[in-house]
Amino acid sequence: MAEGRFDNPVVASLTGFYDRFRKQELKSRFKDSDNFKGKTVLITGANSGLGFALAVQSAQRGARVIMACRSQIPEAGEKVKQLSRSENVEMRFLDLSKIDSIHQFVNQLQEDKINLDVVMLNAASAASRSRPTDSGQDELFMVNYFSNFILCNLLLSQKIIQPDKQKQSRIIFISSDSHRGSSAIDYNEFGRYFDYGVSKAISNYSYFKLVLNTFATELSRRINKDKVLAQVNCICPGPVNTNIIREVPFPIRMILRGIFSVIFRSPKKAAPPVIYMASSDDFKDKTNQYLHMFIPKRMDEKVYDESEGQKLWEESVKLWKQLDNKAKVFL
Ligand SMILES: NC(=O)c1ccc[n+]([C@@H]2O[C@H](COP(=O)([O-])OP(=O)(O)OC[C@H]3O[C@@H](n4cnc5c(N)ncnc54)[C@H](OP(=O)(O)O)[C@@H]3O)[C@@H](O)[C@H]2O)c1
Repeated sequence: MAEGRFDNPVVASLTGFYDRFRKQELKSRFKDSDNFKGKTVLITGANSGLGFALAVQSAQRGARVIMACRSQIPEAGEKVKQLSRSENVEMRFLDLSKIDSIHQFVNQLQEDKINLDVVMLNAASAASRSRPTDSGQDELFMVNYFSNFILCNLLLSQKIIQPDKQKQSRIIFISSDSHRGSSAIDYNEFGRYFDYGVSKAISNYSYFKLVLNTFATELSRRINKDKVLAQVNCICPGPVNTNIIREVPFPIRMILRGIFSVIFRSPKKAAPPVIYMASSDDFKDKTNQYLHMFIPKRMDEKVYDESEGQKLWEESVKLWKQLDNKAKVFL
């Protein structure tokens, strides 16, 4: 059975807290001059929490920002414009639990001739139990892993991201250090819906971050065979005081709210390492990097296993083709 590192939300929330007090060695390398002038930045789940702060800070640093969201359109975009004092911000509808919505979103980008320089794959579900999607998968599987596989493949196949040595577009997966210690990928459960409750939901959250990092590593390998054509990296923002616990059952949610508001950082303070990874020249000609806040680390060793990466890719392609006659696999 697939198992994440934790099945208790309080313990899961406190993981990585210790790292807040470690030296953030790359922090001083992040410069005011690192910017997105002339660049287009796409952020999923940008209406809330970390994604919202990333939208504000990307716009402040000169990006054309595309907020890909399923709610708070257009209010969240208007707020980002106000806070960043930039008009170069737009919201587009994207529901990552629905394959059709991903196609419509990407087709619209193509029709509008948009080329992306930076993609921040930030959206995630923290569902407190299993929930079936329209295509019959589990929501956590779909939103936290499989939609990212589909979205990246469509963006690359439809040339909205164009791998190029000079340009080096950046694809950044917002992950979590809680991926560490999850079980190996379980292909008996892969894409299959079954009922489960809160413990398995919490365990699946960190497990799907391991799956996501394994996919990012394989994508990086496939795009960057002998030179870096696109930077494909992962980052954990550390503990952030956001809405991610909205579905945790009531009494535990109150405890977590307390922990979150006292010890977790605000989204505004958690966003800079992601902006650094998305904008700094320090990442030129590098790919498959991982930061935990500003701390460079290796991911869980399972993530780097080439045969696992290949198998995950093949199983994902197989499932996508079963579910979607418009599947367009890149590479
Ligand atoms: N908070 C932390 O301590 C922490 C720690 C490590 C990593 N992270 C990661 O940081 C990222 C951002 O999370 P957050 O803490 O900012 O949580 P959040 O405030 O709950 O934001 C999650 C975002 O994902 C969106 N989303 C969920 N399901 C979606 C769907 N089906 N289609 C499109 N968008 C969907 C949400 O949209 P709605 O508002 O419409 O639901 C929301 O915009 C996540 O990847 C999370 O795993 C967070």
